Amino acid sequence: MSARQTSPPEPCALQAENLQRRYAQPGRRNGRDATLQALRGVSLCVSAAQVLAVVGESGCGKSTLARLLSFADAPDEGVLRVRGVVVDPRRREDLRRARAAVQMVFQNARGSLDPRQRVARALEEPLRIHTRLAGAEREARVLDMLQRVGLQAQHGSRYPHMLSGGQLQRVAIARALMLEPAVLVADEPVSALDVSVQAQVLNLLLELRRQLGLALVFISHDLAVVRHVADSVAVMYCGRVVESGAREAVLQQPLHPYTRALLAATATLHGPGPAAGTRMRAAVRGEPPSPLSPPPGCAFHPRCPHAQPRCRDEQPALRELLGRQVACHRAEFVAGLSASTGASAAGSACTDASASGCWTSATSSSDQGPSPAAGASTD
Ligand SMILES: Nc1ncnc2c1ncn2[C@@H]1O[C@H](COP(=O)(O)OP(=O)(O)OP(=O)(O)O)[C@@H](O)[C@H]1O
Ligand code: SF4
Ligand SMILES: [Mg+2]
Repeated sequence: MSARQTSPPEPCALQAENLQRRYAQPGRRNGRDATLQALRGVSLCVSAAQVLAVVGESGCGKSTLARLLSFADAPDEGVLRVRGVVVDPRRREDLRRARAAVQMVFQNARGSLDPRQRVARALEEPLRIHTRLAGAEREARVLDMLQRVGLQAQHGSRYPHMLSGGQLQRVAIARALMLEPAVLVADEPVSALDVSVQAQVLNLLLELRRQLGLALVFISHDLAVVRHVADSVAVMYCGRVVESGAREAVLQQPLHPYTRALLAATATLHGPGPAAGTRMRAAVRGEPPSPLSPPPGCAFHPRCPHAQPRCRDEQPALRELLGRQVACHRAEFVAGLSASTGASAAGSACTDASASGCWTSATSSSDQGPSPAAGASTD
């Protein structure tokens, strides 16, 4: 998958190939040990100064992917490259360099900061560990970074509990940037914040991306926010990428029935908010499958209004269509490029609205994302 399907292709700041992650589940299957496969072969590329959004319902593997991309966890299979160089997870020096180049911002900033450490000390710590800068230079870098993220010098002397949620997320972003990374992986970075503060933090991230040439992997439940920030989008379902490509293509003319369902779900929501994931789950008919025992063939088939017998038997490969990647046997039909029988036409309303896997109208043209309001922290 490419972050942007333009030519010539941009080199990848971060590239993943066929990432797989399995978790042992002792006693989970009738008292026997089982294996939960959270990632089933994810490939992606994000270029400098680009925002790749990763979306999907709860449990599809987004945070697992974030941990692998930021080298907080190692894949069972697959390869990661930072600026084209393969990272060997068995080599400490490779990992040390990769962790400095790819930093992570978590949903819960409060939980990611040490409550006993003043903000300035928290920001200085990566410099102490990874550089040989003298004290005065470290201090100057900390002050500069506080300013960049819209905070003041006085915030440096505070403890985390003395800051608001928005200010804390700014500190978390500042800390992630102290080592001048090439890539930031942000896992739901605004979903725990008040709606009024979300736009400020989002715009800060976009401004820093522009100023510093950062590649940003932006993980979100919320397609309204994704519309606002992303250059390209990867849609995940049950541990796989099922559609990816440029934002306009994926969000305006989705090819995968699951992407269409997510967009239909977003169209019924009213703007971003902390409960967006819950509401999205409720709006896509049927439950997401358990990664412990996903359905055979296409994992989406029990919820898909276009499913045919082949879908139950054969896992669709990710393939190129209309300038993006899609994993659906019937994507041409869904896109209206070919005729077919036995299923409803693309985007048409279901005749039985009570049926599982039935939804209406595929897209929403309205941009419900927050309005730009970057600048100093008012949160
Ligand atoms: N450390 C772990 N041990 C066992 N199972 C795990 C572990 N981490 C994640 N999982 C499982 O892997 C699957 C994917 O989890 P993950 O947290 O990546 O999903 P997600 O897409 O981030 O969900 P959400 O949107 O709710 O944050 C889930 O079934 C989860 O229970
Ligand atoms: S492969 Fe079949 S079940 Fe899966 S999304 Fe496509 S049409 Fe639906
Ligand atoms: Mg998660």
